[in-house]
Amino acid sequence: MSKEIKRIAVMTSGGDAPGMNAAIRAVVRAGAFHNLHVYGINRGYEGMINGDIQRLEPRNVGNIIHRGGTFLKTARSKEFRTPEGRANAYDALVAHDIDALVVIGGNGTYTGGMVFGEEYDIPIIGVPGTIDNDICGTEWTIGYDSAVNTAMDCVDRIRDTAESHSRTFFVEVMGRHSGFIALSTAVATGAGRVLIPESTEGALDRTIDFLKKSMKRKKQFSLIIVAEGNPFGGASEIADLVSTAIPAMEARVAVIGHLQRGGSPTRIDRIIASRMGYGAVEGLLNGQRNVAIGLINDELTFTPLKDAINNAKPVSAEMMRLAEILAL
Ligand code: F6P
Repeated sequence: MSKEIKRIAVMTSGGDAPGMNAAIRAVVRAGAFHNLHVYGINRGYEGMINGDIQRLEPRNVGNIIHRGGTFLKTARSKEFRTPEGRANAYDALVAHDIDALVVIGGNGTYTGGMVFGEEYDIPIIGVPGTIDNDICGTEWTIGYDSAVNTAMDCVDRIRDTAESHSRTFFVEVMGRHSGFIALSTAVATGAGRVLIPESTEGALDRTIDFLKKSMKRKKQFSLIIVAEGNPFGGASEIADLVSTAIPAMEARVAVIGHLQRGGSPTRIDRIIASRMGYGAVEGLLNGQRNVAIGLINDELTFTPLKDAINNAKPVSAEMMRLAEILAL
């Protein structure tokens, strides 16, 4: 029989995402509601290895639900990828009598959690915190909605200049391996084309074709959204390729970059973070271990960590189609 859970720890790891604070708050307060002692680990797996762990009471997480970033700080730990690093991390948890872990982050965080959970007898629950939305077992990750809203605001502003100067703007958004942010931003801003890592066949040629036709139709300006991880290159490389094919086009590039990762979380991110943080604590108390929490059809669900990581999450084919159709 599993050990009774009395003390849990929560941490954030990998890239920060708006809503992580709301998730931490939910873990701490749901834990306190169930009379658990809750600990916060600073700087993700790095802090775990170094025993950088502190007790968190409900009042310690006041006034953070609306804040971007993560007050527990975050890191991408190389040391945790080594057996020695994980052994040190486990020793630190034992030293604090911690019985279970809630890890908030993306694929790297989940991979670390999965390996750790296989090596050591400690229940782990992953909470999806990444702007990329590239985690299986959930329709939403914490931070994605905020990032898309920020990207959308930026593109709306760029549209003013594109229109005023009759230019084509290539706007690069984040998404190293996935096009969720790019596709949603493209649909939300009415962009002409979107280039994403998941759908590459003929995509560059179709973009060039679209821009040639637009010029013939005397379309004054165009917005092309580029996911940073698409194989043709970043917005700058793509602008060069397209400009070579269409020398008459006046092209400009904008890279939104880390602007997308900061800022106050949207309503959606605050609510899903609160639901998932609370759900993670209740899941642990109900015997869930080495799983990731998610939201599917607006219901909290649990998926084995290995499935959340190993399966590729497809972008919506319907969204791809409508992005093209509506850009006529
Ligand atoms: O995984 C989230 C993410 O924002 C990616 O979209 C991006 O490629 C990456 O992190 C950037 O990471 P860093 O801030 O470490 O450069």
